[in-house]
Amino acid sequence: MVKAVVLGASGGIGQPLSLLLKASPLVDELALYDVVNTPGVAADLSHISSVAKITGFLPADDGLKKALTGADIVVIPAGIPRKPGMTRDDLFKINAGIVRDLAKGIAEFAPKAFTLVISNPVNSTVPIAAEVFKAAGVFDPKRLFGVTTLDVVRAETFTQEFSGHKDPSQATIPVVGGHSGETIVPLFSKASPSFQIPADRYDALVNRVQFGGDEVVKAKDGAGSATLSMAYAGFRFAEAVIKASKGEKGIIEPTFVFLPGVAGGEEISKATGVEFFSTPVELGPHGAEKAINILDGVTEQEKKLLEAAVAGLKGNIEKGVEFVKNPP
Ligand code: NAI
Repeated sequence: MVKAVVLGASGGIGQPLSLLLKASPLVDELALYDVVNTPGVAADLSHISSVAKITGFLPADDGLKKALTGADIVVIPAGIPRKPGMTRDDLFKINAGIVRDLAKGIAEFAPKAFTLVISNPVNSTVPIAAEVFKAAGVFDPKRLFGVTTLDVVRAETFTQEFSGHKDPSQATIPVVGGHSGETIVPLFSKASPSFQIPADRYDALVNRVQFGGDEVVKAKDGAGSATLSMAYAGFRFAEAVIKASKGEKGIIEPTFVFLPGVAGGEEISKATGVEFFSTPVELGPHGAEKAINILDGVTEQEKKLLEAAVAGLKGNIEKGVEFVKNPP
């Protein structure tokens, strides 16, 4: 039996993500939590003739506790999205507090659940959740994930003309580092099956993967950032975690994890100089079983991208840790 919980379920990402989870045969129970509208969203989805039993909760009457109790997997898309001209880091002021408080709830009511953080800036909100879990004595690095799948999905889509797949999701294109601008590093040289990108297209393609989110923010013109593609990506990652937890083998997805706490991660942490980093991770019954180091043998161009990513990541991670250790 799998109980999934969405925190921030009434939002632009939360609603389609909840729809995908409700429709999934892998989910037996689905609890929706948000500060607004969850009774309506849950009532609407409850008419879908799928396996999952669905409930909706608001903060009143111990809603967070009721939503989280018994959870196996918790996905967090709660928080404000970007408007044109904003970076993900601009969201920190508001979203840091939201993620901290929701993580406190998970620590108390669902300490063994897999926690998948979508709320931006992921580079900081995942360290925030880790610090909250540490303080509560429940931190299991194998169970905490920053969702960077949208960067992978974008890389698969934007390189389709070179990878040659009719279904672009069949390409494996690792994207490592973090989840904002220059911290996002697509490693095209490590794609499998391998393909070539013409030299005169390389910079633009890297830039598009790094800043693809801005295209959506601009096109939505003040109405938010990626929601539907993010719901797809969040569901794809949640599904991978659930399948692996049920014993399916060989599932590997890039995700932003606390490296020293995952087998194989120490080596990547030493090589990069950061503790939180997105790298392909083999998933298993207990979550992140193995962090896979694919940094050896990258091209000179990729090395430069990695240096810039690590420089940016350090500050983002530090900011998240500080927010919990020395609250403003
Ligand atoms: P939205 O504003 O449409 O929805 C956010 C929802 O969170 C709202 O329903 C709001 O009521 C709820 N919320 C706010 N405070 C809450 C709290 N304390 N507890 C529970 N729910 C709360 O925003 P959208 O577009 O769904 O984006 C959500 C987050 O996801 C943003 O931070 C955005 O930057 C991030 N995001 C992350 C991506 C990734 O690749 N990891 C991609 C796209 C967006």
